[in-house]
Amino acid sequence: MIGIIFGSSMGNTEEAAKFLSENLGLENELLNVSDCDADKINSFDKLILGTSTWGSGDLQDDWDAFDFEGLELGGKTVAVFGMGDSESYSDEFCNAMGKLYDHVVKQGGKVVGSVSTDGYSFDSSESVRDGKFVGLALDADNESDQTEPRILAWIEQIKPNFA
Ligand SMILES: Cc1cc2nc3c(=O)[nH]c(=O)nc-3n(C[C@H](O)[C@H](O)[C@H](O)COP(=O)(O)O)c2cc1C
Repeated sequence: MIGIIFGSSMGNTEEAAKFLSENLGLENELLNVSDCDADKINSFDKLILGTSTWGSGDLQDDWDAFDFEGLELGGKTVAVFGMGDSESYSDEFCNAMGKLYDHVVKQGGKVVGSVSTDGYSFDSSESVRDGKFVGLALDADNESDQTEPRILAWIEQIKPNFA
């Protein structure tokens, strides 16, 4: 079973996660990370994890409080997505997605779904590695009209890894 787990303070990441869950076209379970412990997340075969960025490039609060050390992701396929604000936080756009990625890699996960930075406008991001976002970057504050098309394109990209 695929688990889609999100952390969201104002509902933007939650809304994106719901759209992803409804349009993935594969059976999945959608959960708020505030309702999950590491054992729950470990129970899924494959995972899609989403976080918004708060503070100054920090993980969303519920992810920030999460026990990443308890995650056992050895060899599991994981994709990550992030929600941020590329105008007001152009120097740390979607940084939390990079932090989430680092936790997943540290716990043994195999991350798929990197995305080109083409079409985004920002100065710097911890979620860019080797010139690409480590997952899907979203910006509901400035580019809300792009959220659904970006998710749909990403689904086509990652689906073979999750089927
Ligand atoms: C106080 C505050 C700090 C923020 N810090 C960042 C940041 O460092 N980087 C970023 O990309 N977005 C930042 N944001 C934007 C949020 O990530 C964005 O509004 C997001 O859509 C919130 O998603 P959520 O409702 O799922 O939590 C910040 C927003 C606020 C209000």
